[in-house]
Amino acid sequence: MTDKVIEAINNGILTADNLTHETLRYDYRVDVYGNGPEVLGRGRGVLEDTDHLDQYLYSYGRMGNEQWDKPFEITMVDDDTTIIDYGCGQGLSFLNLVCRWGHDDDRTWQDYLKSVILIEPSIVALDRAQAIAQLKFPDATISTVNKKLEELDNNDLSFDENKVMIHIFSQVLDIPLDDEFDLLGFFETITSTVGTHYIHVVSHEVGGMNNQQNILKLYKHIVDKHVHVYDSTDEICFVLKTPPTEARKVIKTATNMALNTFNIPRNDKNYTAMFACIKTV
Ligand SMILES: C[S@@+](CC[C@H](N)C(=O)[O-])C[C@H]1O[C@@H](n2cnc3c(N)ncnc32)[C@H](O)[C@@H]1O
Repeated sequence: MTDKVIEAINNGILTADNLTHETLRYDYRVDVYGNGPEVLGRGRGVLEDTDHLDQYLYSYGRMGNEQWDKPFEITMVDDDTTIIDYGCGQGLSFLNLVCRWGHDDDRTWQDYLKSVILIEPSIVALDRAQAIAQLKFPDATISTVNKKLEELDNNDLSFDENKVMIHIFSQVLDIPLDDEFDLLGFFETITSTVGTHYIHVVSHEVGGMNNQQNILKLYKHIVDKHVHVYDSTDEICFVLKTPPTEARKVIKTATNMALNTFNIPRNDKNYTAMFACIKTV
């Protein structure tokens, strides 16, 4: 099945200038099934083909974009940057991030963004996201990992040192993850690389499912463990789990934290956004 978005990128209809989170949704949404939410597992299923991708844009694209309406400014980026998008889907969250924000200075994302790591269990979604990221950032290295969060290993999670890493979790931490998955251990691993880590989580409540628990758990963990005044006798250190195999201790400090909940009257949904900046030395 042909992917209309990839085709439009290849024949020049979609360009780095005209492709945004809004144009992707408006121009490529299709109500293929009539009962989209059921077919798509209420937006939480792993999408199987391009019809599912187009239906997702129709059924959930607007809500997906709305979740990015009121998060936080990312104006602090000041060095070579990697964006890691966990459960990136077809690239809507990535587009929301890079299209919504500029910088305090007159530089652009093109100046800062050197690499993008897209992680997603649906191969069709991943292919579309990769084409989108490469179109927007032709000079950046775009890597893909066709896995679930629970399947990632240390090789997937080793990043360049002394850089800025923006970790996006958009509508992913509210999905039921394997019971054995250690979310907090995973968080410690992804923030182990020396450098600056921005953690950006957006999500919404699915009626009666109490599905914001992982986000609140993560927020509480960061506050408990990483909001502290630096002190050389500080006990808060972690073994870097990623290669090189030589174990190494690092100290992490949360320099900025924010948690925001807001309601969108259009569909009376409650949204949650969390932001943290962790400096790892
Ligand atoms: C609601 S969509 C969000 C997509 C994208 N992050 C966005 O905001 O546009 C959820 C995505 O999570 C993926 N997903 C489902 N289970 C997952 C898991 N265990 N680990 C990582 N991603 C998962 C799905 O394939 C889907 O693409």
